[in-house]
Amino acid sequence: MTESSHLNKEKLTEILKNSYSPYSKFAVAALVVTEKGESFYGCNVENSTFGATICAERSAISNLVTSLGPDFKIKEVHVLSRENAPITPCGICRQSLFEFSSPQTKVFCHSFDFKKTDSYLLDELLPNGFRL
Ligand code: THU
Repeated sequence: MTESSHLNKEKLTEILKNSYSPYSKFAVAALVVTEKGESFYGCNVENSTFGATICAERSAISNLVTSLGPDFKIKEVHVLSRENAPITPCGICRQSLFEFSSPQTKVFCHSFDFKKTDSYLLDELLPNGFRL
């Protein structure tokens, strides 16, 4: 299933323009949708100390928790870059998404033109994620 009624392609593409990525020049935008259908966006924010960079997915999670608090489960994640091929979330973001996931959480990875979308269960991208 590559369709999602929650995806606003125009808005997700707009968010790419807010990316702060002067070092990699690789802009990423993410949309995280809760099980209640609430949508939160994020973009990557780089830092001259490269390890301090925050990815788009974790930026979206931070926006979500800041606005709604931590009592939610993620239904869907959408990831967009300017690449022709879809990109998948990095390992740290997979674990961060897992923190708020359910077994149904889906990850949609889009090409820039949205003509190609790869969809996964988060569980496929991060089998046996860590829970404390
Ligand atoms: N990046 C993301 O924002 N999300 C991903 O899923 C992969 C990578 C960012 C981090 C960095 O700013 C740039 O892409 C290049 O790694």
